[in-house]
Amino acid sequence: MLKERVLTGDRVTGKLHLGHYVGSLKNRVMLQDQYETFVLLADVQALTTHFLKPELIRSHLREITLDYLAAGIKPESTTIFIQSMIPEIAELTVLFSMFVTVNVLRHNPTIKSESRNSGLDDMYYGFLGYPVSQAADITICKATIIPVGEDQLPHLELTRKIVRRFNELYKPILVEPKALISDMPRLVGTDGKAKMSKSLGNAIDLDSSAEEISHQIRKAVTDPARIHKHDPGHPDICPIYAYHCAFRPEGSSEIRENCKKGTIGCGDCKELITRSIEELLEPMQERRAYYKARSSLVEDILISGTERARTVAQSTMNEVREAMSLHYFD
Ligand code: TRP
Repeated sequence: MLKERVLTGDRVTGKLHLGHYVGSLKNRVMLQDQYETFVLLADVQALTTHFLKPELIRSHLREITLDYLAAGIKPESTTIFIQSMIPEIAELTVLFSMFVTVNVLRHNPTIKSESRNSGLDDMYYGFLGYPVSQAADITICKATIIPVGEDQLPHLELTRKIVRRFNELYKPILVEPKALISDMPRLVGTDGKAKMSKSLGNAIDLDSSAEEISHQIRKAVTDPARIHKHDPGHPDICPIYAYHCAFRPEGSSEIRENCKKGTIGCGDCKELITRSIEELLEPMQERRAYYKARSSLVEDILISGTERARTVAQSTMNEVREAMSLHYFD
């Protein structure tokens, strides 16, 4: 039996951090042995918000690829590919856009919240339409399982709608994907306020040195009610406790109890988690260094992944053209 195909992707907007590891990379590493896994470097989608600095996307693309390989994504099992190098995705996006209304896009809750800065009426056409392009990413690969965060659910719903519409209008050749939502809560940033995010400066990057990790943890916010070491703490509002749960789960209930009783101080608690994060990142950084020193190997991985994905995309596009009567000569 053929393995089901998994597709995930990242907008190429910056290096990856611990939040990405917990929320998606770790899961992708597990899924790659069970499914045929494709990972998309969404550079065109990154342009929808970063078109003023395309050269940054270029350097981020290398960094993210190193992050993938460092985290344990194996190029023998996972097809890593570059969105802009598959012109068939752009082609399918145009064809899909014929039967997606502007209103549907304007009411997409993720688009709405992401466009808060620009306002709905002032939105760039490419940005408004990126969910359609995402539907093309997914369907062109005939992927059926899409592991994503909850914010992506409206895009998955749109993809399913587009597939049903296409199949009913033309020919049933596309497959409806399902979302696979991670059961891990979003990792909170070191400020304890928002999810970990590069732009908020509350992230610990996967390539952080030991000094950077301990600096980030030292300056992390803890329970503000704990002024003295023996004050009882409230672990549920403390990002350090969240990190214990994520990276040192075996000791987390003990930490919780001791924090609540005031028998462990924030400094000691931070020491413990700093060491666990270092231990987690160390083997990743070794792999990162291995690939970083072999840039032509990394290039080959991207080129051959993109070739493999393009073969799939071309075959789907042939079927699409045929279904839509856009094949004129034999
Ligand atoms: N929009 C996704 C994100 O921000 C990235 C993405 C682009 C994606 N194309 C995709 C995810 C296709 C899954 C499938 O995370």
